[in-house]
Amino acid sequence: MTTDQDDSPRGMAAGLTHYGDSGFSLFLRRAFIKAMGYSDDALSRPIVGITDTFSGYNACHRTVPEMIDAIERGVLLAGGLPVRFPVTSMHESFSNPTSMYLRNLMAMDTEEMIRAQPMDSVVLIGGCDKTVPALLMGAASAGVPAILTVTGPMMTGDHRGERLGACTDCRRFWARFRAGEIDAAEIDEISGKLAPTAGTCMVMGTASTMALTAEALGMMLPGGAAIPAVHADRLRHCEASGARAVAMAAERLTPDRIMTPPAFRNAFRILHAVGGSTNALVHLAAVAGRLGYPLDLEAFDKLGQETPVLVDLKPSGQHYMEDLHKAGGLTPILRELRHQLELDCLTVSGRSLGEELDAAPAAWPQEVVRAFDNPIHSGGALRLLRGNLAPDGAVIKQSAASPMLLQHEGPAVVFKNLQDLAERIDDPELPVTADSVLVLKNAGPKGAPGMPEAGYLPIPKKLARQGVKDMVRLSDARMSGTAFGTIVLHIAPEAAEGGPLALVQDGDRIRLDAAAGRLQLVVEEKELASRQKTLSPSVSHAGSDRGFKYLYLKEVTQAPEGCDFSFLRPTQIGPPVP
Ligand code: FES
Ligand code: MG
Repeated sequence: MTTDQDDSPRGMAAGLTHYGDSGFSLFLRRAFIKAMGYSDDALSRPIVGITDTFSGYNACHRTVPEMIDAIERGVLLAGGLPVRFPVTSMHESFSNPTSMYLRNLMAMDTEEMIRAQPMDSVVLIGGCDKTVPALLMGAASAGVPAILTVTGPMMTGDHRGERLGACTDCRRFWARFRAGEIDAAEIDEISGKLAPTAGTCMVMGTASTMALTAEALGMMLPGGAAIPAVHADRLRHCEASGARAVAMAAERLTPDRIMTPPAFRNAFRILHAVGGSTNALVHLAAVAGRLGYPLDLEAFDKLGQETPVLVDLKPSGQHYMEDLHKAGGLTPILRELRHQLELDCLTVSGRSLGEELDAAPAAWPQEVVRAFDNPIHSGGALRLLRGNLAPDGAVIKQSAASPMLLQHEGPAVVFKNLQDLAERIDDPELPVTADSVLVLKNAGPKGAPGMPEAGYLPIPKKLARQGVKDMVRLSDARMSGTAFGTIVLHIAPEAAEGGPLALVQDGDRIRLDAAAGRLQLVVEEKELASRQKTLSPSVSHAGSDRGFKYLYLKEVTQAPEGCDFSFLRPTQIGPPVP
C-alpha cells in the first residue's frame, strides 16, 4: 500500500478511488489497518490472504485453526504478511436443504471477498465436499494468484475388529440394519465409530476426489491431497503453501494460467482413474465454466474409455485414504498415467506437472495404486448415458455398480418426489421386485431444490430382507461419492424442467445399457407426446419469492453446466473441456 497508482490486484482491491479522492482513500485504509497492530514494515510486505473456513458445525474443517498457524508461519518465513479472513464454511450433514444448494453462495462469497479486500495472493483452505469446488470457482473468477490446500482425510475407525470409513461403511451398516441383520444398539455403537478424527471422509468420496483432481489440476502443491488431517505432514504442507503464496504474488501466477484446458484434461482423467465421485464431474464443470470452458460430456466419456481405474479405494475397492497417503498419494497415480497426461501444465509450484513428477521420491512396492495394465476396472469410473430419457446426458459410476445390472431392462416403480419416496419405499404393498427399476423424479437442481444426494434410493425393506443388495435406480439427483450401486444420476434436463424423466409412469419398461452408453424409456413416441401435453408442473416452491432461494431457482443451471448460476459464467466462451 505505497502508491496510488498501484494496479496490482491488491491495489485495485484497495478501492483507491472509493471516496473520489484516491489519496484520502489510501490514508483511511492505512489508518484502519494500523488498528490491527501492524507495523509499516509488515504492511510493506506482500499480503497473503488466507480463507478461514472453520466452523463449529464443520468437523471436516476442525483443524483449520492449526492449519492457518502453519500457513502464516510459511508466509512470514518467506517475507510476506498473512491476513486471514472468513468465508462461508459448510459441512455435508448440516447444510439445509443441501450443501449443493449453498455451494454457489460460498463461491460468490469467496470471489467477492478476495476481490474486495487488498491481497496479493490467497491461500484457500478447503476440505468437505462443496468447499473445494466453491473456493476454486470463486478464485477462478477473482483472478488473484491462489493456492489451495485441503484439511485432509480422517483416519479410519474400528468396529469389533472391522475397519470403518465414513461414509461408505455408514451406508453398508445402515443397509444391514434395515435388513434386520444388526440391532438398534449395535447401529448406535457404530455411529460413534464412523468418524473418529477431524478431517474429510476417508474413502473415495467427493472430498477425496476433489482433493486429488485439484492437485492434478495444478492448484495444490504436490502430495497435498492425501495427507491425513491429523498427520504432521499436513502442517508442513500448509507451511510450504504459505511460503509459495508469497512467491506466487511476485510472479502474478493467476488461476487462469494454471487451470487451462490441458490441465482440466488431466483432472478429468484423474477423476476416472481414482474411481472418483460423480459429484466431481459437476464441480469440475462448474470450475471450468468460470474460466469460459464448457464441459464436453462426450470427450469426458471418451477419456474414461481409455483410462483405467487404478486406485483400490472404497467404494470401488478396498482401501482408505490414509493407505493412499502411505502409498505416495497422487504421485503413483500420475506415474502410471504419465504417458496419457499433459505434462507441460504449469502448477502452483511454478514448475510443470512433468517436472514435479521427475522430482518426486522414487516409487516403492504398494497395493493401493495398481499398475496401468493391471487395473481395478478397465474402463473409467464414470460412464455417460444418453437416450430418450436423458437427452442432455446422465451419468453412472460403473466402477461401483453391480456388473450384472449394467445391462438391464425392467418395469419402472416411480416416486414423484422425495416425500413420496420416503412415504412409500418401505410400504409392504409396493409392487416392486428385484427386477424393477426405481425412478425418483423432481430431485434435480430446481426440483428438490439443490439436487440432493438422494439418488442412492434405498432398497425397499421387503426386498432388503430377502437379501437384495442392489437394483437399478435412476433420478435427476446426485449421489454421495461414498455410495455404491447401479445408480443412474444427474438426468438432464431434470423432471422439474420438463425433461422426459417427468413422463415416466409406473410399469413403463426402462432399458439401461452402460456399455453402449444408453438409457431408454421403452414407450412409443406418440404416447410420450400425448403425456407431454397433459404434464402439469409437479413442483411447488413455497417461499421462493425472495432471498437466496429466489436467486437460486431463477439462475441455477443443469448438471452439464455444473449447476452454477448462469450469470456467474463469463460471457466469453473458450474451447470445451476435457
Ligand atoms: Fe465432509 Fe464427508 S462430510 S467430507
Ligand atoms: Mg459426500
